[in-house]
Amino acid sequence: MSESTLDNLLHENRTFPPSPEFAAQANVTAAAFDEAAADRLAFWDKQAQLLDWGQPWTQTLDWSNAPFAKWFVDGTLNVSLNCVDRHVDSGNGDKVAIHFEGEPGDTRTITYRDLQTEVSKAANALTELGVTADERVTIYMPMIPEAVFAMLACARLGAMHSVVFGGFSADALRSRIEDAHSRFVITADGGFRRGAPAALKPAVDEATAELDYVEKIVVVKRTNQEVEWTDRDVWWHELVDAASAEHTPELFDAEQPLFLLYTSGTTGSPKGIKHTSGGYLTQCLYTFNAVFDYKPDDVYWCTADIGWVTGHSYVVYGPLAAGATVVLYEGTPDSPHKGRWWELIEKYQVSILYTAPTAIRTFAKWGREIPEQFDLSSLRMLGSVGEPINPEAWMWYRHVIGGDRCPIVDTWWQTETGAAMISPLPGVTACKPGSAMRPLPGINVEIVNDAGEALEWGQGGYLAIAEPWPSMLRGIWGDDERFIDTYWSRWPGIYFAGDGAKYEDDGTIWLLGRVDDVMNVSGHRISTTEVESALVSYDGVAEAAVVGADDETSGQAIVGFVILEGTTEVTPSLVDDLRTHVSHEIGPIAKPKRIMIVDELPKTRSGKIMRRLLRDVAENRTLGDTTTLADPAVMALIRTGMDEASDED
Ligand code: PRX
Repeated sequence: MSESTLDNLLHENRTFPPSPEFAAQANVTAAAFDEAAADRLAFWDKQAQLLDWGQPWTQTLDWSNAPFAKWFVDGTLNVSLNCVDRHVDSGNGDKVAIHFEGEPGDTRTITYRDLQTEVSKAANALTELGVTADERVTIYMPMIPEAVFAMLACARLGAMHSVVFGGFSADALRSRIEDAHSRFVITADGGFRRGAPAALKPAVDEATAELDYVEKIVVVKRTNQEVEWTDRDVWWHELVDAASAEHTPELFDAEQPLFLLYTSGTTGSPKGIKHTSGGYLTQCLYTFNAVFDYKPDDVYWCTADIGWVTGHSYVVYGPLAAGATVVLYEGTPDSPHKGRWWELIEKYQVSILYTAPTAIRTFAKWGREIPEQFDLSSLRMLGSVGEPINPEAWMWYRHVIGGDRCPIVDTWWQTETGAAMISPLPGVTACKPGSAMRPLPGINVEIVNDAGEALEWGQGGYLAIAEPWPSMLRGIWGDDERFIDTYWSRWPGIYFAGDGAKYEDDGTIWLLGRVDDVMNVSGHRISTTEVESALVSYDGVAEAAVVGADDETSGQAIVGFVILEGTTEVTPSLVDDLRTHVSHEIGPIAKPKRIMIVDELPKTRSGKIMRRLLRDVAENRTLGDTTTLADPAVMALIRTGMDEASDED
């Protein structure tokens, strides 16, 4: 497709309806919307019945103690049994559960029967160490099968896992272990990244050095790197190899906590988002089937890391609850060459691909010649998640990767929502490039104004969720007040998502990004406050302000404005040192793209930093209204600083 064709398509505001062949075989038809609208709870009841339960539930939803929801009250189930054993029991033991591909090219094929063995052994081994139900086990791992075994083993025991993304620093890991008060950490010596082993164990050692309550650190041997060893360390293979492969899972209450996942909010430390079992798994399974139109022969690949919610719901729980075959890839898209993903799609005959717009934009920049060298004809469905997908990237994805034949589902959701909430249904929806389109059946999304009043089509405001949904977060770990304040206090009974959104005249929803101080960098959620705290913790920094500026590839880029203490010397390496410092404090994903040393920050007369103006500067735009500034001359100074600093990266 030439550039002018692309321009025309965008200009024409074209929609892409499902092909008649696709629509005819799709799992879900338009009738699902009517069914859910007629009786939302009966609709979710029906979806929950697709799981294996012990005791049936007596009530679908108990919202009497809002916003603390209970779904499938009194029902009992085991999440791990639903993701593993039941597929073996139904005769699918030989079906591949995981095609693992390590970055160096090593592979493992794990059937559902193998998965049952591995998860049972891991569950027995963890029990022997002393892991009990309700425990919080921190998992800090590369993308290797043991990470999935560990998650499912915790679920099997009724213990919560708290997976921390392997790219986070020792400091970030420590604060998460501390908040969850984990007695156990599961990690690896390291993982392979960009052709070399990257260590993980040293970060765990550093994070836990002063945490005496951490009793055991279980270490998977992946890279054979040298590791420091103390009495509390134990090798995964020694522990698990010795364990029995027989494990009978106990049934737990539908509201048994399943995991904590830390995510950035507007203020303060990351929040431990709590999810539970029955409702979470129900919505993961329903959306996996409905949104990806999953069929038993599909080979499905979600490229997210298990350290994020997408990795939880759509690498592990949704697809495994469905008995799907998933691809798990350890490494980066450009190692050892820029065609690695497409090579894997060809090799494993991947039929459903789920990834993030940042990746798509990066591939587009690398050029279509790279994917065109591979046979991508096995693909039949494409998904996007994590940030708004711009129409250009959508069209490129559809044309170059999907060969103009694969529906694209742009799925909007959050760590807090647990599973997809707004998305096209591939057999039903006529898609507009760049829009997540409509709420899924059974989900009641509204766009509201400041007063929380639902807006008409054609208007824009805040995205809100008007009724509870099965996979909703059940709280913030250890902080009920923060849970209520953050999500439920703006408008009574309505969930505040933190995103801006707009209805088109026909009801199509366009997501407009965060309305709070949360940035979205390459689909990763990072708060401005976290980065500001990291900058201020550098010796010699007096004050810092951080904004997310529009960026062609990463969606947003982190731009910092720093005021130094009077005596601090401005060395040539200062800006780089500051960037490295943030990377060390939080992790490479939070490294600012640019930092400007300034004399003052724009503030209102009441002392509030005007981020809006800083964003104008960072995006090189004409300044917006400056009349409320305490000192309008400040902005001229910052502009000067900007020009001098713009070549820093
Ligand atoms: O701003 C929205 C954006 O990502 C935020 C949630 O981030 P996180 O909890 O890390 O979960 C990401 C993966 C589900 C949302 O508040 N977001 C996510 N998906 C989309 C999106 N923005 C626009 N379109 C999407 N499809």
